[in-house]
Amino acid sequence: MSEVTDLFKESMGRLATGVTVVTSEVDGRPWGVTVSACCSISMEPPLLLISLFTKNASTEAIMEQQRFGVSILSNDQTNVAKAGAKPGTAKFFEEFTDFDHDGKTHRVKDALTHVHCKVDNVVVAGDHTIFIGLVEHVTVSEMKQPLLHFHRQFGSFIDELETAVK
Ligand SMILES: Cc1cc2nc3c(=O)[nH]c(=O)nc-3n(C[C@H](O)[C@H](O)[C@H](O)COP(=O)(O)O)c2cc1C
Repeated sequence: MSEVTDLFKESMGRLATGVTVVTSEVDGRPWGVTVSACCSISMEPPLLLISLFTKNASTEAIMEQQRFGVSILSNDQTNVAKAGAKPGTAKFFEEFTDFDHDGKTHRVKDALTHVHCKVDNVVVAGDHTIFIGLVEHVTVSEMKQPLLHFHRQFGSFIDELETAVK
């Protein structure tokens, strides 16, 4: 890796993010991958972006199915985030998911929220594939502290939650 790539990696590790699990289906079974590259990009129409390593099984599945789900994790779901990030292992997610949207999407149980998207656009960028999803269905659950990721560690949004949601 070049010096610039190393420093870029270190720099982006200093951007604290929320943590999501992107859900899809592999062999007819729920599959989840941990993703922090997720953001909203438009409200009219509602569009969301995720960026996935192109060689991930999830990327292939989403290309095929033309839809995906995004569950935003709460701070008691580090185990789910770790399960979705284990390199080189199958990420069948029955243990962590149930159905949402009349059985049309797999969501992570007890996540803060789950957003179901239809693929609207795909952009290949370097070694990643950017999916822009048109939001078709949203389930917002109980408000809890979010799971955060910073400098290769999981953590919490301490104390400030009450102020932030007012
Ligand atoms: C906090 C966190 C955030 C991540 N964000 C992304 C991401 O935005 N896009 C991505 O492709 N991989 C991301 N990953 C890595 C994937 O979760 C991981 O590479 C993948 O699960 C490895 O699976 P594979 O060996 O089956 O390819 C992230 C991992 C962690 C722990």
